[in-house]
Amino acid sequence: MYDPTRRKVLAAGGLLGALGAMGMMSPARARTLTEWSWPAGDSVAGSGPGVDPHLIWDAKADPVVSALLDDGVVPQVNELLRKWTRNDQPLPQGLPRDLRDFMEEARELPSWTDQDKLATAVEFNEKRGLYLGVLYGLASGMMSTVIPQEALAVYYSKGGADMKTRIAKTAKLGYDIGASNAYKPDGEMVVTAVKTRLVHAAVRHLLPQSPRWAEVAPEEVPISQADIMVTWHSLPTTVMQKLAAWEVPIPEEESEAFLHTWQIGAHMLGVDDEYIPATWEAADDQAAQVLDPILAPTREGVDLADILLGLGEEVDLGIISRPVLGSFTRFMLGDEIAGWLEIPREPFWDRALDTFWDPFVAVREGALDRFPGTSGLYWTFDEFLRRAALLFLSEAKPISIEIPTHNRPE
Ligand code: HEM
Repeated sequence: MYDPTRRKVLAAGGLLGALGAMGMMSPARARTLTEWSWPAGDSVAGSGPGVDPHLIWDAKADPVVSALLDDGVVPQVNELLRKWTRNDQPLPQGLPRDLRDFMEEARELPSWTDQDKLATAVEFNEKRGLYLGVLYGLASGMMSTVIPQEALAVYYSKGGADMKTRIAKTAKLGYDIGASNAYKPDGEMVVTAVKTRLVHAAVRHLLPQSPRWAEVAPEEVPISQADIMVTWHSLPTTVMQKLAAWEVPIPEEESEAFLHTWQIGAHMLGVDDEYIPATWEAADDQAAQVLDPILAPTREGVDLADILLGLGEEVDLGIISRPVLGSFTRFMLGDEIAGWLEIPREPFWDRALDTFWDPFVAVREGALDRFPGTSGLYWTFDEFLRRAALLFLSEAKPISIEIPTHNRPE
């Protein structure tokens, strides 16, 4: 296969790196997102120079993928990578040398990987699978639609035109990270993360060429390391906050183990260790600084949310219908976000969830003997949990994550 020259690769990387480092890459737009003051001392690295990660992208993946796109070899690369699915599998023959070198490095787990914690995480994921399915799908999924830079990037990139497939690909990551062998030789999470890193690099190259993106986006080059951490908080941090709010009993070591799987996830997606929180406390602090203040509606996000809320209708006529998914979203993310997403009020469901969800969880977890509502409502909540988790996890059918070659068609 044609191998892009090293010079081109270095030139592309040099430009992006230099512009970023000099703060010339849309500093005004990137900086309107939030200032970065989170201390590197709270990270898994324990220290770091504290450069604002809004100005750091992926210095290793970006130039390699830019060169592949410029050279028109991405379709062949995708074809080869389709066969690469297991963590321990050698890379396919025939990949361009720079890509191969990058991927060999990117597939290495961080030195701080703790296998004992990963084993404990398996227990957590097994015990809490139902809650996790619903929370990833509805809390994280709906929250992503009010993270403007993410909603816009998703909407104007290739996958935005086919949200069902896109959701399936994203669900694959949620499924892979929770699998018992996630980071083990026979697992798939390393492959999924490395491929996602390549996809993100392609998006950084392609989206700035989209006229609509250029008009509406808060930053010129998307998916900075700060952006990745913002989205990260919509996932494990939000999930853990909700589990705590519902008073689901989680032993300390399981909670730490769940965090660990996601710390490795962030590292494997190319985030520098100095931005990855070492503890839940540090994660909550970082989320309060970078996620909470930027949540806002966009027309594109409202469209994406509408598609997510309609997902259940295709498979179920009752319990995971649009009104119930909408009401559950309101219950989890609050009236303001529900209002932004134009989710109608559902008097019955809104009141049922506000009054009876917490006791339902308490009974389920053995902390309360008697459910104060009707047995029919208990059954409905239980069935909702089961079907919603199945809906979001079943979206993770075998599917191949591929490097895009264009944006959403205009
Ligand atoms: C693609 C996960 C952060 C925008 C993907 C894919 C996954 C993924 C699994 C591949 C699915 C696909 O190709 O459709 C994640 C995770 C993140 C993260 C776990 C953070 C923890 C972000 C952020 C943005 C973003 C911060 C934007 C600001 C995109 C876009 C695509 C993509 C535009 C490509 C969709 C396409 O092919 O058109 N991401 N992502 N992601 N991601 Fe992310």
